[in-house]
Amino acid sequence: MRSSFAGKNIVVGVTGSIAAFKVAGWVSTLAKEEAQVSVIMTRSAREFIAPLTFAALSGNPVHGEMFDPVRAERMDHIALGRDADLVLVAPATADTIARLAGGLADDLLTTTVLAARAPVVVCPAMNSRMYLHPATQDNIGRLKKFGYQVLTPAAGMMACREEGPGRLPEWEDVQEILLRAVTEQDLVGERVLITAGPTREHLDPARFLSNRSSGKMGYALARTAFRRGAEVHLVSGPVALPCPAGVRRVSIQTAREMHAAVSQLADAASVIVKAAAVADFRPAVEEREKVKKDRAGLSLELSRNPDILHELGQTKKEGQILVGFAAESSNLEAEGRKKLATKNLDLIAVNNICSDSTGFECDTNQILLIDREREVLLPMTGKEQTADMIWDRVVELRRQRQEMSGGGR
Ligand code: CTP
Repeated sequence: MRSSFAGKNIVVGVTGSIAAFKVAGWVSTLAKEEAQVSVIMTRSAREFIAPLTFAALSGNPVHGEMFDPVRAERMDHIALGRDADLVLVAPATADTIARLAGGLADDLLTTTVLAARAPVVVCPAMNSRMYLHPATQDNIGRLKKFGYQVLTPAAGMMACREEGPGRLPEWEDVQEILLRAVTEQDLVGERVLITAGPTREHLDPARFLSNRSSGKMGYALARTAFRRGAEVHLVSGPVALPCPAGVRRVSIQTAREMHAAVSQLADAASVIVKAAAVADFRPAVEEREKVKKDRAGLSLELSRNPDILHELGQTKKEGQILVGFAAESSNLEAEGRKKLATKNLDLIAVNNICSDSTGFECDTNQILLIDREREVLLPMTGKEQTADMIWDRVVELRRQRQEMSGGGR
């Protein structure tokens, strides 16, 4: 599967900070994912790291001077910005941020940013006193007004042996912001609520009932929805996955906690996707003390948990799109159709949980996607690609509804 960065013209502006060495790794990753990376280094950036490093990693000559006598005909100071699909300024020093905020055009990087009409992402990296100074904060505010995306630096120990905000963020977080910047924004305006992972139903302080859900499918849905422009809330059971960048996560343990969290967020959501594997039952009694061997009986009394999705189907708001999942071991189509109807869903993704390459724990999936009009067996592929195909159908359903109602959401 081709990366979303493949074929994109990405300009990376490197300025004079010790964090420049980290950006060398980012450039290498972008080039490996087949982006066309053009690196511009300011004069002070060259004090920290040799241009040769960026040239070797990007596979392209590094740009520095505004008027290059050898390549004068290319008008680099305009061409680089004009042809860019994305401009990333990283690390961005307080000085570069101030010059961008003032609209200066006295070097190749600032002229390129002024000439660009592509998204501009700025990653500040500096001593925390400099970062927190009102002048820098004002300048960052101005950049945001221009529509640039300015990332919040990470906090921690810095090269100057001081602690505080000012560190360059990690690639995993930056990558998501950049992917969003180069992805078609067809979910803009959608407020998406996703549930993911298993629930845990406690027997006593040491034990619980749960299932094999890893949360990978729900998290892939959250990541891809954010990339496509949605505002994303994720209600997640206990999983070993980090919260995707840009996504607001509420962590829960039990089905009843998931029910409470979803009920709070559902009204405001325009699309709800219930990818979580919710336990249908919980132990009738949750013991405060650990149950001892000699006390335990051979049978466990269970109580029914609320069917959250069923309830959402009953209370569905006008225009809301409700997507369910079905974990099935046989009769996929019939079971999917039944759940689509009884839970009042707009779309259902049916999973075969008895295959090694679909369903629980694995990185791939193959889904039977059913709505009221059609039924499509999606190809067996990675969970992120599967997530994108589910969003494609949601976008289509939204368009159809808007056409039927004559526009407007
Ligand atoms: N679901 C839910 N609340 C529950 C059980 C399930 O919201 N208490 C949701 C799941 O998140 C999923 C869908 O319902 O989107 C179907 O889940 P599944 O476990 O396949 O079906 P069930 O409704 O539990 O039915 P059954 O176990 O009989 O197949």
